[in-house]
Amino acid sequence: MALSDFISSFDALLYHLTGGSSGIGLATAQNFVKEGAFVYITGRRQAELDKAVKAIGLQVKAVRADSSSLADLDRLFAQIKQEKGRLDVVFANAGGGSLAPLGSITEELYDQTFNTNVKGVLFTVQKALPLIPDGGSIILNASIVPLGRMGRPEEIGKAAVFLASEDASFVAGVELFVDGGSAQV
Ligand SMILES: NC(=O)c1ccc[n+]([C@@H]2O[C@H](COP(=O)([O-])OP(=O)(O)OC[C@H]3O[C@@H](n4cnc5c(N)ncnc54)[C@H](OP(=O)(O)O)[C@@H]3O)[C@@H](O)[C@H]2O)c1
Repeated sequence: MALSDFISSFDALLYHLTGGSSGIGLATAQNFVKEGAFVYITGRRQAELDKAVKAIGLQVKAVRADSSSLADLDRLFAQIKQEKGRLDVVFANAGGGSLAPLGSITEELYDQTFNTNVKGVLFTVQKALPLIPDGGSIILNASIVPLGRMGRPEEIGKAAVFLASEDASFVAGVELFVDGGSAQV
């Protein structure tokens, strides 16, 4: 079955992604909408969310939420539950941070890094779980430095759409490297 046939076989694929207002998250949201999904995007900056909603166009709702705040996550998933009742795909993408030599790492930098990249991912998945039906997908975006060139955001988005699809029905717990081969070559 073609991917687009699979996705349109849902009444409406409901897709939530943290950090959807720029970069990989925005491109991935656009890929899912192109396949017929309705997407919820989150981020901390309202102006960026507004721009992303314009760029995506249709089938999108932005909710301002910090994925490291449990109160924000509770509010977000309560809203999705009330509006849609379920969530087919979660793409935990919010992340990043800055590099610093060991001697320059501050408590603030440590907290920023771990709050978004670890705490936020864990509680996003924990709190989304009751809304995810059988056959749903949880996709975590991680980090590595690509070989030769930077990956394009839509290249990650295409891999996320595959992982959420019927074509990946026997794929679970996999670490899929979409990194230009930097970890393998
Ligand atoms: N670009 C790369 O080369 C690369 C390589 C490997 C892995 N990655 C990973 O891919 C993911 C996305 O990277 P990107 O390059 O697309 O980054 P980006 O352009 O900086 O986008 C990050 C997105 O996450 C949001 N965000 C950050 N912290 C958040 C928080 N605590 N709560 C909610 N939203 C938050 C940002 O919006 P706000 O700031 O408004 O919240 C923004 O929408 C990250 O996890 C990154 O580690 C990126």
